[in-house]
Parts: sequence; C-alpha cells; structure tokens
Amino acid sequence: MTTIGVGLIGTGYMGKCHALAWNAVRPVFGDGPRPRLVHLAEVTADLAARRADEFGFERSTDDWRVLIADPEVEVVSVTTPNAFHAEMAIAALAAGKHVWCEKPMAVALADAERMAAAARASGRVTALGYNYIQNPVIRHIRTLIGEGAIGEVNHVRFEMDEDFMADPAAPFYWKSEASSGYGALDDFGVHPLSLIQFLFGGISRVMAQLCMPYADRPGGDGGRRRVETWDIASVLLELTNGASGVMALNRSAWGRKGRIAMQVFGSRGTIAYDQERMNEFQLYAVEGRASEHGFRTVLTAPVHEPYDRFIPAPGHGLGFNELKIIECHELLRAIRGEAAQIVGFDKGLEIERAVHAMARSHHAGRWVEV
Ligand SMILES: NC(=O)c1ccc[n+]([C@@H]2O[C@H](COP(=O)([O-])OP(=O)(O)OC[C@H]3O[C@@H](n4cnc5c(N)ncnc54)[C@H](O)[C@@H]3O)[C@@H](O)[C@H]2O)c1
Repeated sequence: MTTIGVGLIGTGYMGKCHALAWNAVRPVFGDGPRPRLVHLAEVTADLAARRADEFGFERSTDDWRVLIADPEVEVVSVTTPNAFHAEMAIAALAAGKHVWCEKPMAVALADAERMAAAARASGRVTALGYNYIQNPVIRHIRTLIGEGAIGEVNHVRFEMDEDFMADPAAPFYWKSEASSGYGALDDFGVHPLSLIQFLFGGISRVMAQLCMPYADRPGGDGGRRRVETWDIASVLLELTNGASGVMALNRSAWGRKGRIAMQVFGSRGTIAYDQERMNEFQLYAVEGRASEHGFRTVLTAPVHEPYDRFIPAPGHGLGFNELKIIECHELLRAIRGEAAQIVGFDKGLEIERAVHAMARSHHAGRWVEV
C-alpha cells in the first residue's frame, strides 16, 4: 500500500484538525502509505469547494453519501456534529471504508452498539478522536505507573473545564440541543474516560449529578431557547482496579480554556498533569531524604516518544494539532496491521456505557453499575 485515499466529512474545528493531520502525517513520521486527499463533503457545494481548495482535496460534494460511494476513498474522517456520527460511520463501514470518527462515538447507546457491531462485521479499522491519550506525556505517565514509580494507585481525580459556554449571553447552538447528547458528560467526560481507560482500565460503577447553569440562551430569532443539555457534571467513580475516583466537568467555567487536570495518587507518590500545560507533568516520588521531598516538573523531550518525530530539541513543546497527527499515524499503523494505540469502536463502546450509566445515576439519584 503506497497511498491511501482519504475522505473528510465536515470542515469545522475538528475537520481542519483532521485535514492538517492527513497533510502532515507522512512528512512527520516518514512511513506508511502517503495519504491522497480525494474527497471532501460539507453542507453546501460552495463551502465544500472552498475547503477542498484550502485543505488540498481533489474533489468536493454537498452530499456525504457521494463521498462514501467514491471507490477511491479508503478511509473516512467523520468530523460532523455528534448527531451524525452513527449514520455516517455505519454507512462508511458498510461501503468497506476505514473510519476515523470524532468523539463522542454517538448520542444514543443503541447507536454506539450498532457502530461497534458494524465495525466488527466490516473487519475495517475504526478510531475515535480521543487525542489526549496520544500525548507523549500521557504515554510516559502510563510507563511510570506501570513501572511502579508511584506505587499502587489508589485514587484518581480528573477535572475538565472550559469557558466557551460560560457567558449566559452566548447563543444557543448545536451543543445546547439534546440531539448532541447529555452535554458536559459526552462532550467532555469522554476525554477523561479515555485517559482512565488508557492508564488504568475500566470503571465498575458511578454516581453522578448533572447541572444546567443557564436554563435558556439567545436563539437565532431574537427570542430565547430552552437549553436541553447539562453543562456541568460531578461524578464519583469506582475503577475496576479498585481505585476510587472523581471526575468534575464544566463547560461554563470562566477562565478555564482547555483544562484537563489529572492527579494520580499512589502508595509511593503522586503524578499531576494539566492539558493547559500539555508539555510537562509533575512527579512526586517518595525517595531520597525527606528534607528534599517535593514535586518536580518534567518537560517533554525527544526521549518521550514520538516527540522526537516533530522536534529534535527538548522543552520546545507540542500542541493540540500534533496530537491529531500522532492519532492519524496510529490509525494508519492499525490499517497496516500493526499494534496501535487507538480507541476503536469496541473500546469506545465501553466509554459510552460509562457515560450512559452516569446519566442513569443522575436521574436515579444513586450509584449505578457500568
Ligand atoms: N477530539 C476533540 O478534542 C474534539 C474537540 C472539539 C470537537 N470534537 C468533536 O468533533 C465533532 C465536530 O465538532 P466541531 O467543533 O468541529 O464542530 P463544528 O461545528 O466546528 O464543525 C462541524 C462541521 O460539520 C459540518 N456538517 C454538519 N452537517 C454536515 C453534513 N450533513 N455533511 C457534511 N458536513 C456537515 C458543518 O457545516 C461544520 O463545518 C463533534 O462531534 C465534537 O464533539 C472533538
């Protein structure tokens, strides 16, 4: 396989990230098939043609089904709003394409189950947009935990906060609609859940409370629309490895821009990380003299793979888009039959089960098994 034909559906925030990744993956990693940017779909022919020109795609359409029917497309990036993921991914798999689909996997659990079944039946590779597990820092933290650097992990704490919905005057849009899911749980919660899955395995039970800070928002017509999603969630977790956990999510958190703060507490130390400082982590290990105990900050460097593929100098830092390039490379490795670090639809379904258990817990007001 010297080339691979790429289709891209949606060209907003994530669509551009996928396009950058498809353009960069070969220059960065120097291996695998060369992506050939074949077909791009958007909601109007004009927008599709403009984005195809900007991103370097050969042709464009305002009908995503035309893209999926294109025999030269071998892998499809689905970067549309949540409500479209299931239909588009299942159609792509049925047409024999590999699928790289943004998170959350789907809105309804039944749709996520149908996606996982379609992936199994197709024998094609699937990957979800859980980019944060691709950070060389997170990979290294996993190695450290595996080596016992902080002993036995007994408690984990995750906070994911941003402020893009903090302003009560921010307009109603698709993330305020129930068709996008529960809100903070499946918009944000899935990211810490992907980190928990990557670092520790599964979750056995949950206890959740969801909150809606603003009941309505300005609609497009000068009036106001009732908000249908919960922007805030607080969750207690019990992990399958026996550790306890806390997950706090807030899309209305003034001042927080891209916070995914993680603390991992063990019997011999603690590891702390925050996505807003994604090129460093803090390690406290109980070793040496007590008089010098304290957290030390470790900056990423070429030794933290695959940082070296981007920059030979330590401490210069990677960004969000680099995580997408690494994710794209992992997907291509999986397509070549190599071991890869991706969350396919099978593992993604486990994350969806946890999200829906949290929503059930909120409504029932009690702990719920995942
Ligand atoms: N992995 C991450 O860190 C991350 C971050 C942000 C968003 N996301 C996910 O990415 C997805 C898209 O979010 P976004 O912020 O890019 O949204 P967006 O609104 O910026 O972009 C969505 C794009 O899809 C297009 N679109 C909608 N319906 C379409 C259709 N039927 N055919 C073709 N194109 C269509 C829209 O015109 C728009 O350009 C969501 O599922 C979201 O949860 C993931």
